Amino acid sequence: MKYLAPHYLFLILLSSLLFLQCGNKIDALETTSPDGKTKVKFFISEDGTAGYLINYSEKKVIDTSYFGFDFQDGVSFRENLKIINSYTSSFDETWKTVWGEQKFIRNNYNELKVELKEKSEKGRRCFIVFKVFDDGVGFRFEFPEQNYLKTLTILDENTQFKLTGDHTCWWIPGDWDIYEHLFNTTRFKEIDALSKRGHESLAQTYIPENAVSAPVTMKSDDGIYISILEANLLNYSEMTLKVDKENLLFQSELVGNDAGIKVKIETPFVTPYRLILIGDEAGDLVSSRTILNLNEPNVIEDVSWIKPTKYIGIWWEMHIGKSTWDMKSGRHGATTKNAKSYIDFASRNGIGAVLIEGWNTGWENWFGSHDREGIFDFVTPYPDYDLKEVVRYAKEKGVDIIMHHETSAAILTYEKQMDTAFALCKSLGIHAVKTGYVGQILPDGEYHFGQWMINHFSTVMKKAAEYQIMINVHEGIKQTGLRRTYPNMMSAEGLRGQEFNAWSPDGGNPPEHLTIIPYTRMLAGPIDYTPGIFDIKFDKYKDKNQVNTTLAHQLALYVVIYSPLQMAADLPENYEGNPAFQFIRDVGVDWDTSIVLNGEIGEFITIARKERNTDKWFLGSITDENGRLINISLNFLDDGKEYVATIYSDADESHWDKNPTAYRIENKIVSSSDAMELKLAPGGGTAISFIPTTK
Ligand code: NOJ
Ligand code: CA
Repeated sequence: MKYLAPHYLFLILLSSLLFLQCGNKIDALETTSPDGKTKVKFFISEDGTAGYLINYSEKKVIDTSYFGFDFQDGVSFRENLKIINSYTSSFDETWKTVWGEQKFIRNNYNELKVELKEKSEKGRRCFIVFKVFDDGVGFRFEFPEQNYLKTLTILDENTQFKLTGDHTCWWIPGDWDIYEHLFNTTRFKEIDALSKRGHESLAQTYIPENAVSAPVTMKSDDGIYISILEANLLNYSEMTLKVDKENLLFQSELVGNDAGIKVKIETPFVTPYRLILIGDEAGDLVSSRTILNLNEPNVIEDVSWIKPTKYIGIWWEMHIGKSTWDMKSGRHGATTKNAKSYIDFASRNGIGAVLIEGWNTGWENWFGSHDREGIFDFVTPYPDYDLKEVVRYAKEKGVDIIMHHETSAAILTYEKQMDTAFALCKSLGIHAVKTGYVGQILPDGEYHFGQWMINHFSTVMKKAAEYQIMINVHEGIKQTGLRRTYPNMMSAEGLRGQEFNAWSPDGGNPPEHLTIIPYTRMLAGPIDYTPGIFDIKFDKYKDKNQVNTTLAHQLALYVVIYSPLQMAADLPENYEGNPAFQFIRDVGVDWDTSIVLNGEIGEFITIARKERNTDKWFLGSITDENGRLINISLNFLDDGKEYVATIYSDADESHWDKNPTAYRIENKIVSSSDAMELKLAPGGGTAISFIPTTK
């Protein structure tokens, strides 16, 4: 990995502002962002409790909030603290991404590091580090090695985020096992996560209390957008956010296990960063790369095998019931013949890879029972699937194979098999694996997002890197920016994906779904949503389900929803001969620049992205169930260039339910001085490719 020559400034000013108010003694320290807009104030209150506040543009954004840890074997680390040291520094570096939404990312912040010590005899110590960026604040706790804190069991991390009003919130419940819930839009005081218990299509779910999952995004009545996330989650458990209506605050509630343990750890250790993104516009949150800046640089030297790509797969056909994962049905999808026909289609259309699910034995009994250990072995193909021949054929056609490892959440089986399974991929020249974790975690008592599983997910990511394998995880832990350190961590599901449209008894994802996702789940990182369904109603296979958007909206998702592995999810026969498929053939998957042109959470969004290493631009705009006109300036295009814009838009009569497949294609010569009016149907969208003219 090559970095731009690091050009940074490291200043240690022994202490910034130290106020000592005698009598009512309060120690406080302040740090501001490089542009001066974001301001953090750290303080120790009278009883020795540490806390903080955040201001943005002179307005309070996070009100007086406190910290505190409860340990199993002793007194909480919360009160009776004093500041024994503090340091401030500045950092400014621009680094190059291996792949991503943009080629170069500026990492620019001011840091405040405070060393705290208990006044009691034990004198336990902890550092709190704040990194203050123009677009938000990240902070974490660092526990150094020390006598009275060696091995510790954390029962609770009580980090508070006190709000300044009853904000509008976009939230999913703080489920310890799954994120596949629809986003809810309510005031903070109306959050009711418990009402989301017991969803009929979830193979696993556990919502212990009224808490939400992060990212949770909010809008204050005075128009400030705020999102709470976490970055760099390793060897710790996920943070959900408990809703304290009385005190108008979120308080961290770590995911635990049935033994009541949240985290078991030894000093020295650091917690993940708690990240608060702040913006004047909803799109500012989407443009932030701060989550990546709160992760360590790339550790993989040879990245030649890491390649963003579009892919198709033997996948949707199982979800809509055309074929099955198992063989017993007599309609097995993953046959050598079928795989070859997908490979042919990919090769003819410049699609880089093919995913084949249901290729390995075990799918007869994978789901629903408790007896799931030992069912999958990740190396034994069904008799009608010749793995070696499929791989050979794909190579001949210039197409890569994406391996599928559905673990059915039988973790010990997978951990036992992992080396063998990855070694098989390596021997076949396969560089990508889609993993899956459907069902309740085995062993019993653990949850998908607890520390034990976080460690499993990071083991998979690191081991995959050793075998030169890219990972696309389903039902896994959300992204926290680790893709910077391990750029083989490509994409993740971590939301209610397209699959729900195929079979969910609640009618699937409503038209507004993907107008919320960019401002919430997508702030965490790339999403394997699997867009591109053209046969919106798929009546041939199902009469009750459908995709709740127009076809043009599906096209726009290739630009709006970011993933370096981007699926063209529909059946090849539904693409064959459809002129709209040209957009999927053309659209990029790796970007030089990404710009959010406009949008409001849960209403609409327009994003333009320039492809990396070409001069092509692509634009995607989507709306919720309301049709709308959107005016855009093309001033994002490179100056002095002329482009052929191919516009894939809804037709006049398009409607996500009444007429979802009507669309229009138009060509125009445009330049950066032009403007356009986009007309989006209810549940609709527009997708545009801008290809420079040759002159
Ligand atoms: C759930 C995943 O999200 C989906 O993509 C996959 O097809 C099934 N599990 C089977 O592994
Ligand atoms: Ca899923």
